[in-house]
Amino acid sequence: MRLLLFGPPGVGKGTQATLIKNKYNIPHISTGDILRQAISEGTELGVRARQFMDKGELVPDDVMIGLVRNVLSSCNCENGFILDGFPRTVAQAEALDAVFEELNFQLDAVIYFQVDENEIISRLSQRWTCRVCKRIFNEAVDSIDRNAACPECGGDLYQRDDDKPEIVKQRLDVYNQSTMPVRNHYEKTGELIEINGVGDIREVYDRILVTIEK
Ligand code: AP5
Ligand code: MG
Repeated sequence: MRLLLFGPPGVGKGTQATLIKNKYNIPHISTGDILRQAISEGTELGVRARQFMDKGELVPDDVMIGLVRNVLSSCNCENGFILDGFPRTVAQAEALDAVFEELNFQLDAVIYFQVDENEIISRLSQRWTCRVCKRIFNEAVDSIDRNAACPECGGDLYQRDDDKPEIVKQRLDVYNQSTMPVRNHYEKTGELIEINGVGDIREVYDRILVTIEK
């Protein structure tokens, strides 16, 4: 099962990737999570990435392509993987095609989540994430208390710096300008599958399962 989850910020890529990962026991490779981890560890990658992420901009292609090539070459991916947040530019998509060819991997599906912008803005303003287990919550959907500990593991909950309204707007603009054209890339290859990302989290998950089981 080699899946690519694709779509604007806040459509539910991370949420759905966690459910798919638990069902199929395959790695979830999220470039955003890798970069946030690098920032929290203060590595060279983290210091460089932070300048872009804090402004809602994309980390340069050369950095991201090198990073993903390394991760895919060394991950435990024999039974598959879920790639989330990459590619985000046409150059990244073309580089990924070349990496897949080198590694003799073939994608099974590119799942594109369809969610309108007002819903995205509302979801991101209510997102809380656990620092320890990384579980993603939504204040409205999961009825969590933002001042309490993570209901899963007792870790601290935090709000992402790039979920501030002005940065969310910038991320959406960057998506529309630089990432949307990646959709055409996968339409041409015939791998793109569009899923309605609105509705209960389990409902969206069931839609994905029906599609990938086909
Ligand atoms: P990244 O971390 O990838 O962020 P993103 O793509 O903007 O997407 P998000 O993680 O914000 O949203 P999501 O779709 O995962 O939604 P989630 O499941 O959390 O990237 C961050 C930054 O890193 C980028 O801006 C860039 O700077 C850099 N970067 C990363 N990759 C890069 C690359 N390839 N090239 C260059 N730069 C790169 O859900 C959101 C909320 O909605 C949660 O609260 C959740 O509980 C809730 N929710 C989920 N599903 C539902 C539902 N069905 N109904 C109601 N609420 C729901
Ligand atoms: Mg995410």
